[in-house]
Amino acid sequence: MFYGVENMVDRDDLLLQARGLLSGCRDPVANAANLSALIWQALPRINWAGFYFMRDGRLLLGPFQGKPACVEIRLDQGVCGLAARERRTVRVDDVHRFPGHIACDSASRSELVVPLVDDSDTLLGVLDIDSPETGRFGEPEQALFEGLARVWIQSLG
Ligand code: SME
Repeated sequence: MFYGVENMVDRDDLLLQARGLLSGCRDPVANAANLSALIWQALPRINWAGFYFMRDGRLLLGPFQGKPACVEIRLDQGVCGLAARERRTVRVDDVHRFPGHIACDSASRSELVVPLVDDSDTLLGVLDIDSPETGRFGEPEQALFEGLARVWIQSLG
């Protein structure tokens, strides 16, 4: 499966790269920083890629690539809040049609948010990817980002 003609990314290859990159370090912030950078480098047509971590019942901005973003998101707010609250991946084809979408970058058109839930069923945060293109994220992308989220969770040991 490929993710863009101008920069062809094989899913298994990217997952393998991510595993390699995060092996040898168990720090959540360091590994989130490197995974954001890897996604940013590998995926075409995205304008934001990064993490929010659960802190005191809210989502707090973590490592990311892209324009500066809102620091805190309540669980009743935005696409990130919905993914965290319902602990399911949320794919939005057109953010202008999502009531309550939080526009950190006005260029964003579609968005995919994966909840980060560890093996003890603890919600650690979310992985959020934005694109300036409507409908950028389909099922293959969802599977890819869920796989990458899994790699990050497993890297914590
Ligand atoms: N759009 C998100 C907010 C985070 S930024 O996209 C980085 C949302 O609606 O939750």
